[in-house]
Amino acid sequence: MLVNGLNPKCRESGTLSWDDTRMARRRRGVSPSRPGWIGRKRDIGLSQSDTSAMSEYALALSEAEVGRYRLMAANALRLEAAHLRDAGVVPGAVVADVGCGPAAMSVELAAEVGPTGRVIGIERDERALATARSLVERSGVDNVELRAGTAEETGIQPGSVDVAMMRHVLAHNGGHEQSIVDHLATLPRAGGTVYLVDVDLTALRMIDADPELDDLAERYARFHAMRGNDPRMGLRLGHLLRAAGLEVASFTGTYTIIEAPPGMRPPAWAAREAMLADGAATTEDVERWRAAFSRSDAAATRPTIFAPSFVAVGRRP
Ligand SMILES: C[S@@+](CC[C@H](N)C(=O)[O-])C[C@H]1O[C@@H](n2cnc3c(N)ncnc32)[C@H](O)[C@@H]1O
Repeated sequence: MLVNGLNPKCRESGTLSWDDTRMARRRRGVSPSRPGWIGRKRDIGLSQSDTSAMSEYALALSEAEVGRYRLMAANALRLEAAHLRDAGVVPGAVVADVGCGPAAMSVELAAEVGPTGRVIGIERDERALATARSLVERSGVDNVELRAGTAEETGIQPGSVDVAMMRHVLAHNGGHEQSIVDHLATLPRAGGTVYLVDVDLTALRMIDADPELDDLAERYARFHAMRGNDPRMGLRLGHLLRAAGLEVASFTGTYTIIEAPPGMRPPAWAAREAMLADGAATTEDVERWRAAFSRSDAAATRPTIFAPSFVAVGRRP
């Protein structure tokens, strides 16, 4: 049920419907591997290849996780429509999507900028880049260029883009936030923008949720703090833009409210192996959370999640 934001339809099988997303409407005969992209199956446990690819970055990219990224991207496009337009994500624009992950948002942006525009996706993680390549190919868009690079050294020519976007990356780069935003600020042409999106993990709220899942959410915020990341990153976006010499054109926050369908898993669950590795969780904790998800999947009353998200746009003088 849509409350404000995500509108994942529950199918009888318990998987999320893909039909609501803009991507589906644009599929042009290309069929994404749809069955079970977010499933209620227990097989969302990490495979060997999942765990071997993990380094400083905490979120493992299972198929379910990629599905969540796609759903979030499709909904962000709708919820942020006015910000995106005002920031310059319009037909013909060149947009850098730095820390693009599986490129779910890059693909959405590609449709916004159209055939005369271009999206450059930058990603440092090889596995995410491979997933991104596959998603871009399956989506049938031909104006997304993916490149390996880091948030502080994208390799993009200064002054060459209309919009430099970064979504949900700063919260994973504790201590480097300002140098990242300083670099992003060099990328747009004069009058172009830097577009930042991030969260406040400490303000996430749930009702009708299993208490163990509240525990998981709290533990995830603490785990980030232990890593030197700022769990309240979203609150600092305006400061970062201003310190980078940009004029803060807008800075807003919203709660996305979603009645979580069976099978949906939060980022905290995708980080469980990293939490284990850091000593922020035990195997008993993970099993407790796994059991809680199973109970929650079977419960008649769905948990409602209130997820805060902040968007800040800085304009280059
Ligand atoms: C939470 S994901 C967000 C992906 C995408 N921006 C989105 O919102 O759908 C963060 C991504 O940023 C990448 N990342 C994190 N720190 C990075 C850095 N310093 N340089 C490049 N990529 C980075 C991670 O590998 C991961 O793929």
